[in-house]
Amino acid sequence: MACRLSLSLLWSFAISLLASVPLTRADSQINPGFPYGSEKVRGANLGGWLVLEPWIAPSLFDDTGNDAIVDEWTFCQLQSNSVAKAALTNHWNTFYTEADFEAIAAAGLNHVRLPIGYWAFEVGPGEPFIQGQLSYLQKAVTWAENHGLMVIVDLHGAPGSQNGFDNSGQRMSFPHWHSNATNVARTDAIIKTIASMFSENENVVSVIAPLNEPAGFDGADVLSVVKQYWYDSYGNIRFPFDSSQESNTLVLIHDAFQPLPYWSGFMPPPTFQGVALDTHIYQVFSDSDVALSQTDHISTACAVSSSGIADFHLWTIVGEWAPAITDCAKYLNGRGVGARYDGSYPGSTAVGNCAGMSRSASTFSSSYKTFLRRFWEAQTIAYEAGQGWIQWTWKTEAGAGEEWSYQVGLAYGWIPQDPTERIYTTICD
Ligand SMILES: *[C@@H]1O[C@H](CO)[C@@H](O)[C@H](O)[C@H]1NC(C)=O
Repeated sequence: MACRLSLSLLWSFAISLLASVPLTRADSQINPGFPYGSEKVRGANLGGWLVLEPWIAPSLFDDTGNDAIVDEWTFCQLQSNSVAKAALTNHWNTFYTEADFEAIAAAGLNHVRLPIGYWAFEVGPGEPFIQGQLSYLQKAVTWAENHGLMVIVDLHGAPGSQNGFDNSGQRMSFPHWHSNATNVARTDAIIKTIASMFSENENVVSVIAPLNEPAGFDGADVLSVVKQYWYDSYGNIRFPFDSSQESNTLVLIHDAFQPLPYWSGFMPPPTFQGVALDTHIYQVFSDSDVALSQTDHISTACAVSSSGIADFHLWTIVGEWAPAITDCAKYLNGRGVGARYDGSYPGSTAVGNCAGMSRSASTFSSSYKTFLRRFWEAQTIAYEAGQGWIQWTWKTEAGAGEEWSYQVGLAYGWIPQDPTERIYTTICD
């Protein structure tokens, strides 16, 4: 009798736990390919592969011998098509292979986030972009499946550029995706294409991120277009079957560089199912950030755990972050642009010398590597107060910004072989 009573008490306790944990935030109605809400996302971005970034693969840019080539647009525009196409094809074939997916899984990670540009799907008149990367996206999904990894397909560049960053495909001072309805309509169509392309692979492509880093800092006009675009993307991702049948794919919307409270109550369950919020956290892109002491870098990271990410109405994932504390990686601020840390960025004041802080990890002191480990642990502990994290980035070209590289961090030991293993368990206490 006593035994039966305690079992039934346990059972009702278990039921109340089940009912109160994932169902409040997410949904009972869709069934994602990964147990979001109960298991933490731990992943790596595959940056600089299917969308070029000068700082991740600087040799591709240096080899052009043309300083005006600063992004993928000019890479395709300012050299002969055959030269550009050969360089891109070689890069697509070699920078990532199935061996990387095997290594990512062996490192205990469960997700990869894979940036792709709009031009993989559709190139408009007058746009110089070269195609061919789409088949690598499809290969990547197969490789991920082979090694048990979930894929976040991340639209990283939209027509007109959503942020003007070189990693949107087109570097410019003021982006014009949002101000041109044709650009937005083209992007909607691409999200439909992506959703339908992977609608039978929900157990691998469990997440679609409809647009990386739209420039919310450029004002209210951008934000209102972005919000409508999130609603439209929800429809495009949730209903990819030309019927009322719903997909199980998570819709990962970026915060457009707005603080969490800005998105309070946005796209709430149960009206919306399976919407998650992506926030990117770097401590290297302002004068004040690069001037922080190592201790302050760590406490800034730890503070994220109490910023509201733990109980926000949308699952919150830190979809980009890095252990870097300087902007010293070559071309990080753009090809031909210097670093704030050493004062070579226009208008900045030097904080220190870049030597030994970036690029080749063989130049890092043991105390700096110990700091990188502490900072890595502080960040992952803090971000796991939310739904988890995806480091930017799995790899760089040898010698390029290696403090950002998950692969190099594993080799040198500032990233543990098992991402749940920690030395500094109380670093944020
Ligand atoms: C809007 O963007 C499209 C390309 O998506 C371009 O053809 C058109 O000229 C742009 N319109 C304006 C007014 O800039």
